[in-house]
Amino acid sequence: MVTPEQRPHLNIRPAREDDAPALREICNDAVEDGLATFDNGLRSIEDQKRLIATAGQDAKRPLLVAEVRNLVCGLVSVEACEERLHYGEIAEIVIFVRRSFRSYGVGRQLMRVAQTEAARLGYRKLIGRVLSDNEDSLRLCKATGWRVVGVHERHARHGSRLRDVTVVEYLLPAVSGAE
Ligand SMILES: CC(C)(COP(=O)(O)OP(=O)(O)OC[C@H]1O[C@@H](n2cnc3c(N)ncnc32)[C@H](O)[C@@H]1OP(=O)(O)O)[C@@H](O)C(=O)NCCC(=O)NCCS
Repeated sequence: MVTPEQRPHLNIRPAREDDAPALREICNDAVEDGLATFDNGLRSIEDQKRLIATAGQDAKRPLLVAEVRNLVCGLVSVEACEERLHYGEIAEIVIFVRRSFRSYGVGRQLMRVAQTEAARLGYRKLIGRVLSDNEDSLRLCKATGWRVVGVHERHARHGSRLRDVTVVEYLLPAVSGAE
């Protein structure tokens, strides 16, 4: 484990269309590693471009990337959650770090920015759904102040396996002047 001083300096910014190949690779790493909770199909460049364009059109659902010296090494998205009930109040966080950059603090920094950004956008709560055996993700949640709500048993289908999913939540502070 590296010390805070050794952590790479990250530039965190909104995703652009030309990030599509890198983001596709990072997401597909997680799918191949069996760590993406519900996305268990590999995505194409076109899928990825569509997701970037969708985020670019909706200020309430940012897709942010982390880069180190122009290499995109992670992403976090603030996504709609149970839209009919909670639009604009509760969001779901989805976060992925490039395989070779994991456990260097990139996830923690992306998560902190997503939490700040979600509060600024006026959300009052974030939720996450993590495979219950995804220890790195649960450790990241613990390190960034999330609470475990409970476990959906045999919930996410990965081929012939039904995997438990841990639901986590993070209560956001109210920000005055939030959008
Ligand atoms: C989960 C994931 C986003 C975490 O990002 P990361 O950059 O690897 O995590 P960080 O290095 O910021 O670690 C955050 C905390 O988790 C813990 N942690 C993470 N990986 C760890 C490891 N391999 N060993 C020990 N602790 C670890 C540390 O406590 C760390 O806290 P610290 O900053 O106080 O040291 C990343 O591992 C990932 O993309 N995994 C595959 C995809 C995935 O699981 N996404 C989440 C789906 S819900």
